[in-house]
Amino acid sequence: MDKILVHGGYPLSGSIKISGSKNSALPILAATLLTKDQCVLRHVPDLSDTNYMVQILTHLGASVERASGTVAVQAEKVESTAPYDVVRRMRASVCVLGPLLARCREATVSLPGGCIIGDRPIDLHLKGFEALGAAIRVENGNVRMFAQKLEGAVINLRGKFGPTVLGTDNVMMAAVLAEGTTVIEGAAAEPEVCDLADFLNKMGAKIEGAGTRRLIIEGVKELHGAEHDIIPDRIEAGTFLVAGAVCGKGVTLNRVEPKHVTAVTDALTEAGFHIATKDHSITVSPNGSSKPLKIATEPYPGFPTDMQAQMCALLSTTEGISVVTENIFPQRYMHLAELKRMGAQVEIEGATATIHGVEKLLGAPVMASDLRASAALVLAGLKAEGVTEISRVYHIDRGYEHLDEKLGALGAHIERVKAD
Ligand code: EPU
Repeated sequence: MDKILVHGGYPLSGSIKISGSKNSALPILAATLLTKDQCVLRHVPDLSDTNYMVQILTHLGASVERASGTVAVQAEKVESTAPYDVVRRMRASVCVLGPLLARCREATVSLPGGCIIGDRPIDLHLKGFEALGAAIRVENGNVRMFAQKLEGAVINLRGKFGPTVLGTDNVMMAAVLAEGTTVIEGAAAEPEVCDLADFLNKMGAKIEGAGTRRLIIEGVKELHGAEHDIIPDRIEAGTFLVAGAVCGKGVTLNRVEPKHVTAVTDALTEAGFHIATKDHSITVSPNGSSKPLKIATEPYPGFPTDMQAQMCALLSTTEGISVVTENIFPQRYMHLAELKRMGAQVEIEGATATIHGVEKLLGAPVMASDLRASAALVLAGLKAEGVTEISRVYHIDRGYEHLDEKLGALGAHIERVKAD
């Protein structure tokens, strides 16, 4: 198992290119199951999560060719069963449920296991499939679904913690091949949902309202092949913006969609950093002393839960008291225990963390607990005194394409070593 060593105190400068979005690529790869024709996707990031999704598609009978960032998938025939061995490594494997139900009218997919960022139920996904006409049983750790036909329905997908991203994706992918019109109320409006809707429309689907809380989907008989460029990863972009704020002298991101990261750029501006935006590039640079923040995570366009950990790393050395509230996954605070081991001063009460900014953090051996928590530890290590040794870096490889190489190109002293 690899470890990452970050030697702190080297300022970052220069530019890097943002990769395609993981959270767009995963459901879009699953959506290729909806047609017999070939689909070609570009800017698919090279990550262990996209590799798992390719393995799932292959298991389900699709032929997949991958060359650098381009993935061509053809699912002439599709199996409707994905067992535990195939899906257990990645929670996002649930997004094959919608395409399988639509294409095969039946699906048996093992339920995803627990997740360190909190309980992650799929009740809303199942509620949506049921409304479209599926009979569902959950038994022996599997979801089994069957439908003689799928019929359009009005479905409210808003849950206790707001809209569901993959739930909206899943129900949308099932509804595109249902008879009649489906209306999804309380839909997620994240850019990744819009990217999936764009791709489905290119395949011949009729979806309106992507990016709003109400999706209207007119079912069609069949879909055809399509080509698509995956949008830039707004969370990778946000992570590099925060890296630039933690210890940068001017860091520029290229191939980024500035409007997708305004919650992060607004927060950094409020914290006292200078942000310069062009069409597809953003530069973050220091602008005197930085200020503490009050942040609450919200569904898009609010501050993303996937940026909360990285922001905590920045705020841990920002003078003053910052307050962070996690509204989407209230237990998503594993990174704070590790940051404390580096000297951060944080109190957690319920879903709120109060961070008392300290002058400096000290490098320490720390353990990555999930994808974004790992990124936060790397960011903290960039500024900390001494060496931060991060273990379990497979979490980072799930969702950041060459994070260590990209940070190295900006001037970070970061190395990947084999652990015993
Ligand atoms: N929820 C339910 N019932 C459901 C589904 C969700 O109660 O059936 C709850 C969740 O427990 C949570 C909230 O609704 O409290 C929102 O969860 P959502 O379903 O939106 O999460 P997701 O679709 O499973 C995606 C991203 C996550 C990101 C969340 C929130 C992908 C592959 N994953 O997950 O990304 O945190 O949306 O924006 O798109 C990451 O990339 O590190 C990551 C965890």
